[in-house]
Amino acid sequence: MADAEYDRLFRELQQLEAKNPDLRTPDSPTQRVGAEPASALTKYRHRVPMLSLANAFDDGELEAWQTRIAKISPEVLSAGYQLELKIDGAAINLTYEDGILTVAATRGNGTVGDDVTANVRTIPDVPLRLQGTAWTPVLEVRGEAYFPLDNFARLNERREANGEEPFANPRNSAAGSLRQLDSRVTRSRGLRFFAFHIESAYPIPVATQHEVLDLLTSWGFDVAPHRHRVASLEDAFAIVAELEALVPTLNFESDGIVIKVDRLALHETLGVVGVREPRWAIARKFAPEIAVTKLLDIRVNVGRTGALNPYAVLEPVEVSGVTVSKATLHNMNLVEVKDIRVGDHVEVMRAGEVIPQVLGPVIEKRVQGAKRYKPPTSCPVCGTEVEHPEGEVACYCPNASCPGRVLEGITHYASRGALDIRGLGEQRVAQLHEAGLVRDVGDLYGLTTEPLEALDGFAKKAAEQLVEAVAASKAQPLSRLLFGLGIRHVGAEGARVLARTHGDLDTLMAASAEEIGAIDGIGPVIAEAVAHFFEEPKNRELIERLRSHGVSFHESTTTSGGALSGQTYVITGTLPNLSRTRAVALIETAGGRVTSSISKNTTALIVGEAPGSKLDRAKALGVEQLDEAGLLRRVGDVT
Ligand code: IVH
Repeated sequence: MADAEYDRLFRELQQLEAKNPDLRTPDSPTQRVGAEPASALTKYRHRVPMLSLANAFDDGELEAWQTRIAKISPEVLSAGYQLELKIDGAAINLTYEDGILTVAATRGNGTVGDDVTANVRTIPDVPLRLQGTAWTPVLEVRGEAYFPLDNFARLNERREANGEEPFANPRNSAAGSLRQLDSRVTRSRGLRFFAFHIESAYPIPVATQHEVLDLLTSWGFDVAPHRHRVASLEDAFAIVAELEALVPTLNFESDGIVIKVDRLALHETLGVVGVREPRWAIARKFAPEIAVTKLLDIRVNVGRTGALNPYAVLEPVEVSGVTVSKATLHNMNLVEVKDIRVGDHVEVMRAGEVIPQVLGPVIEKRVQGAKRYKPPTSCPVCGTEVEHPEGEVACYCPNASCPGRVLEGITHYASRGALDIRGLGEQRVAQLHEAGLVRDVGDLYGLTTEPLEALDGFAKKAAEQLVEAVAASKAQPLSRLLFGLGIRHVGAEGARVLARTHGDLDTLMAASAEEIGAIDGIGPVIAEAVAHFFEEPKNRELIERLRSHGVSFHESTTTSGGALSGQTYVITGTLPNLSRTRAVALIETAGGRVTSSISKNTTALIVGEAPGSKLDRAKALGVEQLDEAGLLRRVGDVT
């Protein structure tokens, strides 16, 4: 089905359900998302404990396991084994009553987990209603929620573009994404789910683990690829080696193979060790994706905010299929705390798509005379004395015109998430800077083709293209400009909120930190940083130069011809169903504008729970007031 068709049907369903709430079923697609944020997760006691697995690190340990269980029940030797990838994510337990998903909970300590039903509902692989008929009245499906590596890489790109710390690894992020209080956050992360186990007090119509997986598939679940049924443990050894080689090609993390006695009747017989580990399964772990190599040098990058970022230059080493010669050392504090020294052997890890990182030194291998690392006291680019703000792990070059900072700043301005000036990457920026053509982003708009053509590697065509790309960037919306200016703490999302609420740069520049901070989604730290940025004479001067070049200072997201075209709205208080961002998006999509303060030109004030002083002002000015339902009627979302 085409996206547009899906959206249309989805909307129709939403409207039908709004009119007829009693027809809204728990498995309706509208129920996958939209639950209001919870204030805390509630605990959930598992009906049947969620087990963990014993580990085996080589074939010998697998043989020892088989010997142990064959003593209890010799039949295992002829029962065959089911081999499955061990998914490195977060275990969840799904309860289905009469085929309807009623509870989803994390593993927790195995006995008590967290109820994460609203979040799990947003995972598209989790059926809200079981397909087919071969299920029992009450049952539990267990499996692993995981972060697909491509989604994880995208999330981190987005975080970095927003000036946020990237997440360290997909597994912790999957667990973290599941435990969000706002299911919309979970949804935006793009988690997926593989099922591998059924718990049912009523008998299920299958006798083996490989049939369990088929049954799960028939109910609408996704099961992990590359599963194998083997007759003997010897056959399993070969498959383990085969699958291990395959892991780097997968779009999820897997840290081993789970080997399960295939015949379910034997699971009963074999039982559980203590309360934790079933005897009928074992995890054959892969060699860890950690390599040891020599640290040749510690170098320092200067970011656009002036933060000094240390990184390791390494003797090239292969880590999970990729040759690594550089790795992040995160921040100066970490190098100090872990006492990482040049010349040390260090452990290097690569998890999924993440930038390789140095875990720490191998102390036993330290050569005599290796000296403690001394963080630079002056900026490695411009020589200015470094600042180390109290309570922060990073140290900074405070010089705003430090070439290191300036180059990063211009590169950021031209980057995809900001003004998106094609063909202006790091190297080009450095070249233009060196040639004296560009000292700050304002200079970009004065570029002409002639001096560019004189530069190395700039054919006439490339020069023209760059000048054109720069000219095209003038029309970019204010949100991108705000992000591109590199105001401390203002990421892409913050910039969008600022641009939407103020509409144009002059209004924003005229606002006080207090007024800026009054916007939903803008905290005091951001507000202070924004106000401070526009107070700086140097920055004001830059803004005026951008203005004189015709750079757009407007958000101009208004679509002409929409139901709210030409109208201006202000929102106060908490709306019963819509988040602030959603409400703003609805108004803007309908062609309207949302601003932060009421004037006599305001079309209407949207009033939610606990409205602020804006309501008094609206009354004083005779501005119309609407509630959420009124707004929805106006944008045509509900008729
Ligand atoms: S079977 C009763 N199969 O590994 C079921 N577990 O270290 C026992 N895991 O908590 C687990 N992939 O969350 C099983 N194919 C798979 C698995 C798997 C990942 C997780 C599971 C468990 C943990 C144990």
